Amino acid sequence: MRVLVSGGAGYIGSHTVVALIASGHEVVIVDNFSNAKPTVLARLEALTGASIPLHAFDLRDADKTERLFADEAIDAVIHFAGLKAVGESSERPLDYYDNNLGSTFALVRAMARHGVHRLVFSSSATVYGESATAPFTEDLPTSATNPYGWTKVMQEQILTDIAAATPGLQVALLRYFNPVGAHESGTIGEDPQGIPNNLMPFIAQVAVGRRERLSVFGGDYPTPDGTAVRDYIHVMDLADGHVRALEYLGEHPEVAVRAWNLGTGEGTSVLQVVEAFADASGRPVPYEIVARRPEDLAVTYADATRAETELGWRAERTIEQMCADTWRWQSANPQGYPG
Ligand code: NAD
Ligand code: UD1
Repeated sequence: MRVLVSGGAGYIGSHTVVALIASGHEVVIVDNFSNAKPTVLARLEALTGASIPLHAFDLRDADKTERLFADEAIDAVIHFAGLKAVGESSERPLDYYDNNLGSTFALVRAMARHGVHRLVFSSSATVYGESATAPFTEDLPTSATNPYGWTKVMQEQILTDIAAATPGLQVALLRYFNPVGAHESGTIGEDPQGIPNNLMPFIAQVAVGRRERLSVFGGDYPTPDGTAVRDYIHVMDLADGHVRALEYLGEHPEVAVRAWNLGTGEGTSVLQVVEAFADASGRPVPYEIVARRPEDLAVTYADATRAETELGWRAERTIEQMCADTWRWQSANPQGYPG
């Protein structure tokens, strides 16, 4: 298949580009570089040996999106493009609704006009809201506690409604737990701009000496060591999950819309991640325990059985590999991508 990867210059998108090409697919990227650097393309081409067309524009530009579908023979779309910072989404809600919903509208309209019937959408475990108890199953009701989360809930609903009204359209809603790690080459990885919001990139920047110490948000959760528990999943396992979901849609034309959790099904505490990273990197990771972060849940992890039974996909890589691969990327690229 020739797959359009929206947001393909970003963290998860770039890793999925590698997995798609490794599985024999062709890739076209569209990205506006609002949260990525153009230098990722040379890394992707070196890694895959493929020439990858990249269209640099904002998907909300309906004319350009239309032209892209007219010019490139697209068979399927994986839609990563979006803004993703929870805290920022509460400060700039209109930007989040406009970007995340607007890009989806333009994309789905162009798909309909050009007869493209397969869409894999980046959703998040955040759609389980705050009332669910782990492990989370896909049939739990969805809700959210912040504008970012609402954009995911809304996009899932919008895509479900459109799929119901459009014969032949197929949509996979992939709900990621906590993606971390990097490609094992260490040449591509997560490159957050400014102070990282998420745990693993923050730890990596402490280990490499860019930041003094980690603040562990909360040491009094009802968990074995008092720190919060998450389901960390290696980004290359996640990438493979996208390839499987795409292929599954092709094998199951009767499926119009379906949600799958992509997680390991196992929880790891903040302090366990700190320890695993210190072991993998051979560097100390100084930390201090501070107040809880508002809105954080104590324990989240996936029930990952649906993806295993239906897609035949399971996350394979351990927390040790996640840390080792993050460290390989971070130590070889202490300031992230050049440019
Ligand atoms: P990312 O910011 O690295 O990648 C998103 C890419 O989309 C960026 O390269 C950005 O420049 C591009 N983009 C944003 N808006 C665009 C627009 N309007 N037009 C064209 N390009 C645009 O983020 P990521 O971590 O790779 O996440 C990818 C997707 O997965 C996002 O939708 C995110 O919400 C979702 N997700 C991420 C996580 C996570 O922990 N990283 C967890 C759950 C869900
Ligand atoms: C966060 C988002 C979630 C989003 C996910 C992936 C919030 C409230 N939730 O999830 O919506 O889908 O990222 O992008 O922002 N931690 C520290 N110190 C730090 C950073 C994090 O102790 O400097 C802790 C957090 O309290 C949490 C764990 O590490 O317990 C993981 O945090 P993070 O990587 O931000 O992911 P989530 O909070 O699970």
